[in-house]
Amino acid sequence: MLCRMPKIAVLPGDGIGPEVCREAVNVLRVAGGKFDVPLEFQDAIIGGAAIDRYGVAMRDEDFAMCEKCDAILLGAVGGPKWDDPEAKARPEQALFKLRYGFKLYANLRPVKVNPALITSSPIREEVLRGTDLLVVRELTGGLYFGKPSKVWKAPNGVLRGVDTMAYSQPEIERIAVTGFELARGRRKKLTSVDKANVLSTSRLWRQTVTTVAKRYPDVEVGHMLVDNCSMQLIREPRQFDVIVTENMFGDILTDEASQLTGSMGLLPSASLGKGKFGLYEPIHGTAPDIAGKGVANPLATILSSAMMLRLSLDQPRAADAIEGAVQRVLDKGHRTVDLGGKTSTTDMGELVAKELSAS
Ligand code: IPM
Ligand code: MG
Repeated sequence: MLCRMPKIAVLPGDGIGPEVCREAVNVLRVAGGKFDVPLEFQDAIIGGAAIDRYGVAMRDEDFAMCEKCDAILLGAVGGPKWDDPEAKARPEQALFKLRYGFKLYANLRPVKVNPALITSSPIREEVLRGTDLLVVRELTGGLYFGKPSKVWKAPNGVLRGVDTMAYSQPEIERIAVTGFELARGRRKKLTSVDKANVLSTSRLWRQTVTTVAKRYPDVEVGHMLVDNCSMQLIREPRQFDVIVTENMFGDILTDEASQLTGSMGLLPSASLGKGKFGLYEPIHGTAPDIAGKGVANPLATILSSAMMLRLSLDQPRAADAIEGAVQRVLDKGHRTVDLGGKTSTTDMGELVAKELSAS
């Protein structure tokens, strides 16, 4: 239990990030008032906005500010303005600084099909019904951080590029443990996803997961190749409970899995390390095409703030209340544009806040 006022760093970022963060902070304030947990918020500029203002995606002093907090709420970073592949400073560096700097190696992305939205998905209702899975994505290793990673001109004048997928056994072991522990609290089924027929890192991954599995005899474990998994996710998503996978595979599979719920605008995430400190963000990006129009779906960020209350701030009742409020708003038929409706970002946020107050 925290014995002082919980402090939350708010990093809205770019595009629709500030719009959706505003609503989530408002909902958090309401939850704090209702459950007698006064929350303190501190903002910092990151991503493209920080590049414009400071020349870097995230300043060290802003990182230090986050370090003094109990959790981070993040919108999204990036946009066409900062897409120059030659640029030294890139918005995504802020994300990597946070993920790597705080050793947030476990990224939890729950995908639960909401009966109220089942017709919003491009996948058929009978395939979707009952889908409730959790992707545990390794977040501080693999292709995202392996060295070398560069483009260079070979002596023959040809440009070449290289990225490195690297994993150590302890890195795989700790994420596997996270996956098994979470599976224990759910339906006790874990699917480890790799590409062991091609990649050395995947063979080490499979071997390590198999070893860790011996400590969890109560959890049913299976191994699946990533290409097959991408097919199974839309063919029979109900077969999955917990999926544990490496960084890049998890990135790709969670975008795909988001479509099971009907919209990327609904998927929250939590990034955790060893302790309670965590980074909470929607899995969607900055959506530059709709930024500033007030039509973005704030629910993924609002649901991320519920995960924050549960996982970092020891406030499971407040988390349940937010999720309940979101459900009631959806049950009443309110839909943002991504779900085929007309409700604006602020209206959606306010509707959730109102339901929360009334609950
Ligand atoms: C995600 C995003 C990021 C990632 C991008 C913005 C770098 O797609 O969180 O899934 O690839 O990890
Ligand atoms: Mg992604």
